[in-house]
Amino acid sequence: MSLAAMRCVGNENTLHVEELALSDIANRFGTPCYVYSRKALTAAFAAYRDTLQAHGMLEQSMICYAVKANSNLAVLNLFARLGAGFDIVSVGELARVIAAGGSPDKIVFSGVGKSSAEMREALKAKIHCFNVESASELDQLSEIAGSVGLRAPVSLRVNPDVDPKTHPYISTGLKSTKFGVAFGEAFELYRRAATLPHIAVKGIDCHIGSQLLDPAPAAEATGKILELVDRLAAAGIALEHIDLGGGMGVQYRAEEPAPSAADYLGPMLKMLAGRREKLLFEPGRSLVGNAGLLLTRVEVLKHGEEKNFAVVDAAMNDLMRPALYDAWHDIVKVGAGDTAASKAMPYEIVGPVCESGDFLGHDRKLALKEGDLLAILSAGAYGMAMASNYNSRPRAAEVMVDGEAVHLVRRREDISQLFALESTLP
Ligand code: LLP
Repeated sequence: MSLAAMRCVGNENTLHVEELALSDIANRFGTPCYVYSRKALTAAFAAYRDTLQAHGMLEQSMICYAVKANSNLAVLNLFARLGAGFDIVSVGELARVIAAGGSPDKIVFSGVGKSSAEMREALKAKIHCFNVESASELDQLSEIAGSVGLRAPVSLRVNPDVDPKTHPYISTGLKSTKFGVAFGEAFELYRRAATLPHIAVKGIDCHIGSQLLDPAPAAEATGKILELVDRLAAAGIALEHIDLGGGMGVQYRAEEPAPSAADYLGPMLKMLAGRREKLLFEPGRSLVGNAGLLLTRVEVLKHGEEKNFAVVDAAMNDLMRPALYDAWHDIVKVGAGDTAASKAMPYEIVGPVCESGDFLGHDRKLALKEGDLLAILSAGAYGMAMASNYNSRPRAAEVMVDGEAVHLVRRREDISQLFALESTLP
């Protein structure tokens, strides 16, 4: 989905989301504020469905939204209404999905370090499948399932050792990473899993990384997975489902176009044509990334000897991606403003946090004055979900636009909430 999904410039040259002016949203809810578009979220989900439909595979597929990308209840609820399943990585996410109206039998539980309490909780909730990442996890799960008299539905996350060609921090499909069962060991582990009385072998899964712009590595991984599925079938272990993870990238800047769902999934789906297994996908970013932005206000302009700084009221605690991955987010002015009063110049867009790593964008050519509103685009994924209270900053509000309406879907944190769980010494 292009950035245009979130942007439309109104008559007064003020940025809108759907029918609402961002300036009105800022006046009503304050800043910093995450703004999501129901229409853009729905369209991103539809792109997956339409692609699966075009390949005649919709009926056999389940789209399990990766909750970690944006775990706001309204976002989860919207996807649940659209028929999504969910990919979770903690019991916190399990509780969110259930609170948002998602059904447990459409949940897959990923993650390299599930605690025994989490395994127990998810077994009790009767989730669709545990995506098991190691031999040790398989044994623990088997024991826990036995202790509560249940059989755990299991998929093994296989690490295909394929380079996803993305940022090293979000590459997960190489054997040098902590993720999954090594490709060469998976066959034997399946044979062992099939003998465990409290394990029901259901499927296979694989997730090689995030923000993938080239469909080729995902197709290569799919080929390796299918080879293993066929070897297992020949050995009498017939899998019910194949889960190909998430990873499809989104467009963050004009110079780096992202593939459409059709372009990205197409090569994989061609390889899967005619197969009888159920297909699962775990998209996160591609369903929410370009359906959200972070609205912030310029507090202070500092014109230094070497650089100009625009200090805004959002910071690395609100949107960590630039500081953590050196990620690029387009930053645009919300109103056309009085260009006569300010002339365009390169700015460092920074927050008030006491670190030089606290930046949201480098070297952005903008005509700014104090009080201006800025929109940090493509912030719907891994934005609020990774926010913290660093520097004792209350976390931002979140709103969802729906046509002409806007709903507050998380209120801004109060100062009192910052230390409500703490106590002084007796
Ligand atoms: N499934 C598994 C097992 C995952 O680990 C992930 C993401 C996904 C699905 C969803 O991947 P997506 O479709 O969103 O690429 N914080 C980073 C991204 C971390 C991704 C972690 N795993 C960022 O801001 O770029």
